[in-house]
Amino acid sequence: MLSVPHLNGEKKHKSIAVLTSGGDAPGMNAALRAVVRYAIAHGCDVYGVLKGYSGLLEGQIHPLTASSVANIIQRGGTILKTDRCEAFHKKSVRREAANILRRKGIEALVVIGGDGSFTGAYYLEKETGFPTIGVPGTIDNDIAGTDDTIGFDTAVNTAIDAIDRIRDTASSHDRIFLVEVMGRSSGFIAMNTGIGGGAETIIVPEGNETITSICKTIERGIRRGKTSSIIVVAEGPKPGLSNRVATGLQKRGYYPKVCILGHTQRGGQPTAHDRMLASALGASAVAYLLGGQSHAMVGVKKNEVVLVPFKNVIGVKKNLSKDVIGLAQVLAT
Ligand code: F6P
Repeated sequence: MLSVPHLNGEKKHKSIAVLTSGGDAPGMNAALRAVVRYAIAHGCDVYGVLKGYSGLLEGQIHPLTASSVANIIQRGGTILKTDRCEAFHKKSVRREAANILRRKGIEALVVIGGDGSFTGAYYLEKETGFPTIGVPGTIDNDIAGTDDTIGFDTAVNTAIDAIDRIRDTASSHDRIFLVEVMGRSSGFIAMNTGIGGGAETIIVPEGNETITSICKTIERGIRRGKTSSIIVVAEGPKPGLSNRVATGLQKRGYYPKVCILGHTQRGGQPTAHDRMLASALGASAVAYLLGGQSHAMVGVKKNEVVLVPFKNVIGVKKNLSKDVIGLAQVLAT
């Protein structure tokens, strides 16, 4: 279990709010539970904001007790609900958000979400002085400054489970399957799913696979007696890439089946790993906030909880390591 920073001395805030924002991720509820219970245990009132920044602007802010978050650690999604809020890109709207919170007597805000949500939190504090702290919750694991994000492990396990099932039918019919996973412009889900699922090829935005290289891998497999293949495809910025790859392969005489896993990867019970991560990061966010730190995200580096300034997180690209891409190719041969 990751250790949560010690909280000594006077607490900086007496009342905080928490929201979930952006795409939901399994483990967000576990993080919410940790935020609420850790804050209450340290003498702080907690408010839950419904529907992310949109709900905040509508004043959907409600007091939470320790029992409000009972029986949620095992549930996917987010009981607070979530949203991607376009209006929050405006400075005047962010100023109004700070006023809404202050009028309720709330002194700081915990944001559980991804890069876009942290950008909102960054500007909210920069422009209004309202303290904010981020907890990384996204299945994509594409947030700089942290090795891991809440929901990533669950999404990878869900995708690997799907691949295990697809492999049964692929091998029975001697078929090639393209399995498309989420992750937007980042290939972390695809890479971990591909390695863990024993894929023959993994196509990631950070890699350099082409139709020609994929065909070469398929042909090499056939020469070694392989009759079926699993190709994992990271969706990239525009979902549906696997259909375009399928068209390319058809032109070379291969007729793959396409399976887009889509939002199945976002739902379901969080794994034990995600529950532990969410519990440690949720509690750590409150510990830092009550200790007077803000304008930053809690994350994990080399198995330690760290606090990373938002300015070193937002808009910064986290890259897949070249070593991992190389290893995947070696293991697939
Ligand atoms: O960022 C999480 C994520 O699930 C991405 O992997 C995916 O591209 C995107 O959200 C889908 O978003 P939405 O559910 O809004 O279509």
